[in-house]
Amino acid sequence: MLLAINYNYTVYLEVLVFEVLEGDASVGVGHFGVITCKTICVPIYNQKRFAHDLIIRKKTGKPIIKYGPGGRSSVSGHIATVFGCTGFLGRYVVSKLAKHGTQVVVPYRDEDSKRHLKVTGDLGQIVSTEFDLRNEQNIIEAVRHSDIVYNLIGRDYETKNFTFEKVHIEGAERIAKICKELGVSRLVHMSALNADVNSPSKFLQSKALGEIAVKKQFPDVTIVRPGYMYGSEDRFLNRLSVFSYELMVNHGETLFRPVNVLDVATALEIMLKDETTISSTYELCGTKAFSIEEIYDIIDDIMLRKRTRINVPKPIALAITKLLAYLPWPYLTPEDIERYCISDKSGKGIMGEIVKTFGDLGIQPLEFEDTAIHVVRRFRSNIYFNQPMDKNVGRVKKGVYYVEY
Ligand SMILES: NC(=O)c1ccc[n+]([C@@H]2O[C@H](COP(=O)([O-])OP(=O)(O)OC[C@H]3O[C@@H](n4cnc5c(N)ncnc54)[C@H](OP(=O)(O)O)[C@@H]3O)[C@@H](O)[C@H]2O)c1
Repeated sequence: MLLAINYNYTVYLEVLVFEVLEGDASVGVGHFGVITCKTICVPIYNQKRFAHDLIIRKKTGKPIIKYGPGGRSSVSGHIATVFGCTGFLGRYVVSKLAKHGTQVVVPYRDEDSKRHLKVTGDLGQIVSTEFDLRNEQNIIEAVRHSDIVYNLIGRDYETKNFTFEKVHIEGAERIAKICKELGVSRLVHMSALNADVNSPSKFLQSKALGEIAVKKQFPDVTIVRPGYMYGSEDRFLNRLSVFSYELMVNHGETLFRPVNVLDVATALEIMLKDETTISSTYELCGTKAFSIEEIYDIIDDIMLRKRTRINVPKPIALAITKLLAYLPWPYLTPEDIERYCISDKSGKGIMGEIVKTFGDLGIQPLEFEDTAIHVVRRFRSNIYFNQPMDKNVGRVKKGVYYVEY
């Protein structure tokens, strides 16, 4: 007879007794009701569970016990902390995890920024906690119950309080150190494609140094390096579609491998359970490379509109974006211009390690040409806003107008 105690974050403490039944491959489980430290209530109901409902984390030996058929109202037994949950990718990751019964701790800075996350999971499954990246105690509170921590924190521009170093290196290292000290089984750290210590971009430099710092603190970390992500709330396709002019640097020759945010979120969800991803680096980018000119062509095809294309010399673009930096809200920064001049390269990790891709996770990434319409459609004229997508693919035929009566 084996006695296991499962502490389920804020909800309740439960005691499970496993009895191996003779001649039965499954494991019979007596489920005892809610307890406090002093009282143990009598069983409320009986439930059958099987051997595969018990997962033992290889690294820490922690038991993870799931129950229910596996949907939103089930319990996967995992508790995940998602730093950076209030960002673009964060909402998809939280939603994917919570959908399968994982309890998700969502550390936030602004009270309103995490409201939309609450409904992504069942009652009590999304647990929010206020935090400051510089405050170790806050980070301890956020990770101490979790068996996996995702660090999606990142920023495309520097602010008065947070430089790239403070966010991508010091902050990331602090989280990794605390995870190690508290015995968290898994850490998944978000870097960026093209991260390189010698990169002309400060953002990519700091991401590379961040990877090194995190690896030093938590050698088993799984590093994820996505290309430019696109989706409804992105800062990539939305920017390229919004103006009446098509502005570009480097004559539009820079090559990008855009990746759908849903694919990246699915990859992160798979990493929750797949322990072959431990100590690995993943480069998650689209299957094809497109120059900016080609991306503009695709956008124009979807919008059924030809915009004037203007190449802005890099020094002028840098000067303009330096002025834009004085605006009270962030827009294009010199850092963005620098990154628009760097073609996506893939195939090697920072320390020369072999990198894995979507294929290693069994994911076939969505095609950019076919799915860009979901983001770009909103920039169409209302005359053909409802024009249907071509059969099975998102692309629309140029010059073909559909009129609704
Ligand atoms: N989007 C892309 O195309 C792309 C490409 C390559 C790599 N990445 C990396 O992928 C990760 C997720 O990207 P994303 O597009 O979802 O980023 P995002 O939308 O900019 O969200 C960033 C998240 O980090 C948090 N954050 C930023 N600075 C912070 C600080 N000083 N203290 C605490 N939290 C802070 C933000 O919290 P608040 O909401 O409170 O500000 C937000 O939740 C990032 O690490 C990013 O660098 C993204």
